[in-house]
Order: sequence, then C-alpha cells, then structure tokens
Amino acid sequence: MTNNEAQMHSLDIKKELEGKLVTLRGWVYAKRLHGKLIFITLRDSAGLIQITINKEKVTEEEFDQAKDVTIESSVTIKGHISSDLRAPRGVEVQCNSFNINSMAHTDYPIRLGVGKEILLDKRHLQIRSPKVAAILKIRGAYINLVREWLNAHRFKEVTCPIFITAACEGGATLFQVKYFKKRAFLSQSVQLYQEAAIMSLEKVYSIEPSFRAELSRTRRHLTEFWQVEAEAANATLEDIMKIQEQMLTYACKGVAEKCKEELKTLGLIYNPPKTPFLRITYNEAIKKLQNLDVKITWGSDFGAYEERVLSKQFKNPFFVIKYPKKCKAFYHEPDPKNSDVTLSVDLLAPEGFGEISGGGQRISDYDLLIQNIEEFGLNPSDYEWYIDLRKYGSVVHSGFGMGIERVIRWILKLPHIRDACLFPRTPVRVYP
Ligand code: 4AD
Ligand code: MG
Repeated sequence: MTNNEAQMHSLDIKKELEGKLVTLRGWVYAKRLHGKLIFITLRDSAGLIQITINKEKVTEEEFDQAKDVTIESSVTIKGHISSDLRAPRGVEVQCNSFNINSMAHTDYPIRLGVGKEILLDKRHLQIRSPKVAAILKIRGAYINLVREWLNAHRFKEVTCPIFITAACEGGATLFQVKYFKKRAFLSQSVQLYQEAAIMSLEKVYSIEPSFRAELSRTRRHLTEFWQVEAEAANATLEDIMKIQEQMLTYACKGVAEKCKEELKTLGLIYNPPKTPFLRITYNEAIKKLQNLDVKITWGSDFGAYEERVLSKQFKNPFFVIKYPKKCKAFYHEPDPKNSDVTLSVDLLAPEGFGEISGGGQRISDYDLLIQNIEEFGLNPSDYEWYIDLRKYGSVVHSGFGMGIERVIRWILKLPHIRDACLFPRTPVRVYP
C-alpha cells in the first residue's frame, strides 16, 4: 500500500464520510453469503465494520476469493463508505477491491460455547475477541492516566530491579532463581528500592511487575502481576491516602470519559468513585465483621472471605488503617498512640472486591528497624543497604502499591483477575 491511499480504521468510518474511498486492513470476523452479495464483518484494532461485496462491483476472481475466505483470514479491502440503516453501525463499506493477505486454516479453535480451559490454552487467539480487546485497551488507558496524574504531581518515574536478594513481603512467596553461582529472587515489590530513591528524588513511582509464589487459586491472585507503586519523602499515612484517592479517582474518571466505546462493547455503565474515601480502622473493621457473624478475632489478617463480606457493606472504595503489627510486613511504622498497631493502610474496593492496594508509613528509625527485622525472624545482614537508609539522613516517609489487575477487575466487574491480563500467570498456568 502506498502512503497516499487513505487507510482507515473501522472506527473512523462514519456516516459523514459517505462516498469516501477507503482502504481497510483487518481480519475476517464473520461472513454471510447472500446470492450476489457477500457480507463480511471485518475486525481491526478499532472494532468491527460491515463490508458488502457485490458481484457486480468486483472481479470474478475477487468475488470467488471472498466466497471462500475463512474466518480470521487477514485481508485488504478497498471501497466506498456508504450509510446503511441495516448495517449494525448504520454505516458500511461497499467493496470494490478484495485481497486476501493470508488465508486462515479452517480449524480456528475459538468458537461459540468452547470451555474456559480451552480459551485459556488458546489465549493467544482469544485476545482477538472484541471484548478482550476492549479490556486490554482500558487497561492501557488506565496505566496512562495513572502516569499522567503522578507526573503532574511531581512524582518521578524510576524502574527498579526484578532480580533481588532481600524479601519485601516475606520469604514464603519468593520465587527463587539461579543467578550464576548465587541465589536470587524475583521481586515481590519495588518498595525497598523506592525507599532508597526518595532520598535522592523525594517522590517516585514505578509501574512494574511483581512476582509471588502463592499457591492461592482465587479469583484475585496471580503469580505475576503489575503494581503502580509510589513512595514519598516527608509524607505521612494520611498524605499517602490522599495521594491514592486522588490518583485512583482521576484514573477512573478518565476511563469513564476516554473509554466510552470500550465500556459499551463490554455492556457496562461505569460510575467512577467519589472522593474522599472513607477511612475506618482495623479495630472498627473487626467489630463490623463480628456484627456480621464472621468468626474473626483481633490480630488475624483479613482473607478473601473477610474482605468480601466487609467490602459488600460499601459502595465506594474505602481505607482500612492501623492493622496489627503481625498482619503486615516488617517495615511498618508503629502507631505512636498505640504500639499494638501500625501506620499501615489497605485500600479496599467495594461490593465484594476487596483489597486493591497496600501501603503505609515506613519505619524511619535505625534501631527500631533492626529490632523489627529481628522480631520478624529476618536477618539484618540481608537488609544492610536498606538499613543504611536510616543511618544517613532518614526521613518520615510513606508509600503504597496498587495492583493493576485488581483495579481493572474491579472497574470492569470481571469474574476473574486473569481476565485483566494479556497472558495470565497463575500457579497452574505459564502457557501460552
Ligand atoms: O499488599 P501488597 O503485598 O503490598 C506490597 O507489595 C507493598 N510493598 C507495596 C508498597 O507499599 N509499595 O501488594 C500490593 C498490591 C495489593 O494490594 C494487590 O492489589 C496487589 O498488589 N497484589 C496482587 N495482585 C494480584 N495477585 C497477587 N498475588 C497479588 N498480591 C498483591
Ligand atoms: Mg496487602
């Protein structure tokens, strides 16, 4: 194709452009034969469009090719835009040139009614479906919006290592890798590195993958997932909550405004959350759960069940603050008013979805950090560089990590977290 031919995407095809000659490249999504007419639904990255091939308007050879073309073949079509009330979008392209670029085999495995496992095994093909494409586009838009907000608020983007040697979120979920003659792990969170970076850049963020060797086969756990993590010097627990509620609300509003077409494809009417988000303490959450007949005692962490019950009580995201020390990782600052609890915070999505982010204020005192590392059964020598940060100009600081797939699952009300990824990784799946 030469540059001066107007190649368009299906979404650009509008009634106002009636009569315009266009070139479309795409894949055959559906085909219907109707005597001298062939209707092809063409799929491209922008969506679906009806192509009408009239025997009188193309060569005999082209008409025969169109008749034989298989589902998912890649094709190039030229034709005029024509408004047609019978076409699904009120507009179609009347073809005057039809060319097959690559004829697909006839055994395309994605068909109506195939089981979930087959769809996962054939994920490399399933992602062509308009619904999956809509989810992927919204995920991309969401990441851009988050980045936009963080950049506008003077956070600097850093990228942190994936090969690590000291656990951030406990040894039990570390993936071990052979690192030449040494042992290394895959990162569970970039937090510890960000804590180093803020002493140079003050406010930083990263959008990176995290890995957890968790055998949990739930609708909200992956072994590889992405987080938006941010860390700020001279920021308290309250500051980090404000940052989260503003960032998330901005991104959600942006999705509602910029992804109308995709939300429609998914059949969703989306109402973004409203600020401020309610803050409740862990103690209040425990009481609420006990009143709802959940058997949980003070000191236990919330599992998927408890979070589901609790978050069903809310219509807007809400923060749970001040978890007991033993529920959380070693780095949380104790509450100066009550050392049984920490200045930690989880953000829970409402209506049963539960945790979408975790964070809080970090220990800034040198002695207290060493004491905590030991209390958690960890070895201070593994954390030498991290402890150094408290030796040389420590500051009050806070941060959070928000799971991208968790947020997308919640926004789009997806049945399973794996639906929010291009190629999900779970304990039972590393293929394709
Ligand atoms: O609560 P987590 O474990 O906290 C941290 O990693 C902190 N170091 C982050 C920080 O403060 N910088 O994980 C953060 C978020 C969770 O709230 C959840 O959204 C997501 O990451 N997450 C998972 N998402 C999918 N599958 C899993 N197995 C996840 N584990 C955590
Ligand atoms: Mg957490």
